Amino acid sequence: MKEKIEQLEEKIAEGLKGGGEKRIKAQHDKGKLTARERIHFLMDEGSFQEIGALVTHRSTNFGLDKQQFYGDGVVTGYGTINGRLTYVFAQDFTVMGGSLAEAHAQKIVRVMDLAMQNGAPIIGLNDSGGARIQEGVVSLGGYADIFYRNTLASGVIPQISAVMGPCAGGAVYSPALTDFIMMVEKTSYMFVTGPNVVKTVTHEEVTSEELGGASTHATKSGVAHLTAANEIALIKDIKETLSYLPQNCEEDPEPIPYESGNETREKLNDIIPDNPNQPYDIKEVIEDTVDAGSFKEIHKDYAENIVCGFARLGGKSIGIVANQPAFLAGVLNIEASKKAARFVRTCDCFNVPLLVFEDVPGFLPGTDQEWNGIITEGAKLLFAFSEATVPRITVITRKAYGGAYDVMNSKHIGADMNFAWPSAEIAVMGAKGAAEIIFRREILEADDSAAKLKEKEDEYAELFANPYNAAARGYVDEVIKPSETREKLITSFKMLENKVVRLPKKKHSNIPL
Ligand code: HXC
Repeated sequence: MKEKIEQLEEKIAEGLKGGGEKRIKAQHDKGKLTARERIHFLMDEGSFQEIGALVTHRSTNFGLDKQQFYGDGVVTGYGTINGRLTYVFAQDFTVMGGSLAEAHAQKIVRVMDLAMQNGAPIIGLNDSGGARIQEGVVSLGGYADIFYRNTLASGVIPQISAVMGPCAGGAVYSPALTDFIMMVEKTSYMFVTGPNVVKTVTHEEVTSEELGGASTHATKSGVAHLTAANEIALIKDIKETLSYLPQNCEEDPEPIPYESGNETREKLNDIIPDNPNQPYDIKEVIEDTVDAGSFKEIHKDYAENIVCGFARLGGKSIGIVANQPAFLAGVLNIEASKKAARFVRTCDCFNVPLLVFEDVPGFLPGTDQEWNGIITEGAKLLFAFSEATVPRITVITRKAYGGAYDVMNSKHIGADMNFAWPSAEIAVMGAKGAAEIIFRREILEADDSAAKLKEKEDEYAELFANPYNAAARGYVDEVIKPSETREKLITSFKMLENKVVRLPKKKHSNIPL
């Protein structure tokens, strides 16, 4: 037996070496950790249990028969993160560039199936050159097996993809099917195909960073939900994000202990400027309303005219969607609609209640928006809110104009409570635009057109630039002092805690994609 145990120990030690010292050093030299180091930092100490450590590849083509690596380039298993069961796979770039083939894929599929059957999140630490070229169609099949499971698991268990190296081909499509993509700045890339192929096909010369670096995907494409300066910071992001989510769609997010105290926030009374056209930072409103330091922004650098993120209110997880008057006046455009729609659906499928702060002048007009489909893209947000069954509350801080009033979680589309601050202006459009349209003739015919316009503008503003018409109809439940907002929200979300809404029976909805 002693000999056999020694033999086992040798094999395990061999597996721990990955692609060998030289390649591990190369990985470290690039500022990257190895697959096992990443798992070490991600999981609670001593909790990780590896599955399939001795699996090897079977292909013999192109010299693959000469060397076999235990684990086949991916470390898979389970453990706990902050005490909660979590499944994980980490691709090992030191073994054939973390490329995915039959055995590698089977190992990932196994942990995905276990995660689904046991209702726990799965984290993918991706560092892979995509389908292993030497194994041909078997690699493609392996990816498709994963894509299929990503899709079936969507909305059932949280799936988080960390991109921690150059990821190409299939290695980007699996993350794309998951709930969150997180990238490390300067050392991770995502592209369907890399700069060399781009040059051959389109003659375009582009660096990896420009084509698919973290900054590109955080700002231009919106593919990355979060980016971090280094791998350790990214791992912290994964843990924090998980903390706002439940284990699966049947559960609620776990609250953290909270002792209630004075919930009045006087500072909120001073944030809205006297001039309605002057911007202010909605993040200040968010930070002053939610539990101190609990706001975690998602998609921070993409479509900054809308702010999305998780926070806690009285210790309970909530999702926030807020127009940002400090960027493009908080207008709703294509990018903002897509970003917020996705976040609303993420919250809804994982039972995270939604809080909306509304200050929106309307949808952005113009050919660029129309030709690129603002109608369909804007409808995504409308659809996502309308379909969401979690507790939903809106606070109108200032402008709620036009279609954007309807879209931004109005009671008409299923919001449970709608509060307005006294500074709220709820109307079809702003006073100047409205006066110019409905009093056009009168203004034109006046001796002093400018004075007439001002007079009509004031008249319209007096009548509509307030929350009281909406409150009179019950569209707004209560006009509140900003300082009372936190208290009202805590009380209302508590009142809505056991909310049950059943959507009409259907196979699935047909969101305008
Ligand atoms: C087999 C691969 C590989 C792959 C990398 N390697 N990608 N081996 N199959 N797909 C190997 C390299 O041969 C090398 O082995 C080692 O991994 C490290 O690769 P380098 O090129 O030296 O590293 P680097 O310069 O950092 O470049 C990384 C890279 C590049 C950008 C990922 O390797 C690359 O472009 N690879 C190919 C990407 C690709 O086109 N994949 C197929 C996509 S198709 P040695 O032994 O020299 O260390 C696909 C279809 C799925 O995935 C379906 C989608 C819907």
